[in-house]
Amino acid sequence: MIKYYKWFDQTSMKKRFNVLVTRRLHRSALDKLGKKYNVFLHSGKIPIPKKNLINKIKDMDGLICHPYDIIDKEVISNAKNLQVISTFSVGFDHIDIKVAKTQGIRIGYTPEVLTNATAELAIGLILDVLRRISEGDRIIRNKKWNQIFGAYDYTGIEVSGKTIGIMGMGRIGKEVAKKANGLGMNVIYHSRKPVSKNVEKMLRAKFVSENTLYKNSDVISLHVPYNKNTHHLMNSKIFKKMKKTSFLINTSRGKIVDEKQLVVALKTKQILGAGMDVYELEPMKKNNPLLKLENVVLAPHVGSSTKETRQKMSDITARNLILGLEGKKLLYSV
Ligand code: DGY
Repeated sequence: MIKYYKWFDQTSMKKRFNVLVTRRLHRSALDKLGKKYNVFLHSGKIPIPKKNLINKIKDMDGLICHPYDIIDKEVISNAKNLQVISTFSVGFDHIDIKVAKTQGIRIGYTPEVLTNATAELAIGLILDVLRRISEGDRIIRNKKWNQIFGAYDYTGIEVSGKTIGIMGMGRIGKEVAKKANGLGMNVIYHSRKPVSKNVEKMLRAKFVSENTLYKNSDVISLHVPYNKNTHHLMNSKIFKKMKKTSFLINTSRGKIVDEKQLVVALKTKQILGAGMDVYELEPMKKNNPLLKLENVVLAPHVGSSTKETRQKMSDITARNLILGLEGKKLLYSV
C-alpha cells in the first residue's frame, strides 16, 4: 500500500516535488523530507512489489530505495521525471547505474557511516563460528548440554595467532584489519591494488596475490563490491585451494559466493565453516541447505544494522535526496 506521508501544501503555489520512499526511515528524516516534498511512503509488503514500484515511479522526482528494491532498466525507463535516486546503503548493485546515468539521474549512497558496524559484524561472525557460540546456544536450548561434558567434546578454534585474509581493502576491509589486529590475528590482504606502505604499516597488513590469500588464510573475509567480476568469485575451485581448516566470512554481497558450491565445500569438509550475513537469495528459502549445517553461522543481513548507524544512514539518505533535488552536490554520490 502506498499512502501520503504529508498532505500537499495547498497554500504554496510552488511546485512540490514528489518523492517515493520504499521503506520507513527515521522520523526525523521523514519530517525533513515531508516539509519540502510530497512524500509517498510505501508501508506495505517489503520490498515494494515491482508492479507498484513501476506504477508509482512514473510521477516521482525523487526516490529513496533500499538494497532489496531492484531499480533496473524497466523501472528507470518508467521514471520519466526522476532526478535523484538515494539509496539507504553503501552497496548499489541493485541499481542499474549505467541506465540511470544515461537518463541524467543522480545517485546518492551511504558509505563511511556503516564501516564500523559492518566490520564489527564480520569480527562477530569470526568469533562466533570459530568458537562455536551460536552452535553452543542451540545445544543448550535443545537440552543437550549433558552430551558435551567431556574436555574434548566441544572444542572451538582459537582466533588469536590465526591469519585473516581480507579480500578487498576498502573502508570496511581496513576496519576489519584494525579490529583483527586487536584480536592478535596476522593480516594479509588482496585488492585490485595495494594500499600505501604507510597504511599497510598502520594496519600491520601484507599485500599478497589472490592465490596466496586463498592458500594461506585461516579465515577469509570478503569485502569487495558485487559486480560482474566478483560474481561467484568464491566457488568450488577456490574452496579447493583453501586450507581444510579454514573459514569463510561474507558480509559483502551474497552472489559473490556460489552458495551451492559452498554447501558442498562445507559438507565435504573442504573448509571447516562459514559465517554469513548475506545470501544469494534474501530472505533465504526455508529449505536452504545452509540451515542444516552446524558449522555455519547465519545472520540476516544486518551488517549495518545498529541503532547508531541506521540513524546516520537515514540522515544521509534524506540529505542526499534533498541536495540532489536542489541541484547541489550530493554528500556521497555514486
Ligand atoms: C549496504 O549498505 O549495502 C548494506 O548491505 C545494507 O543493508
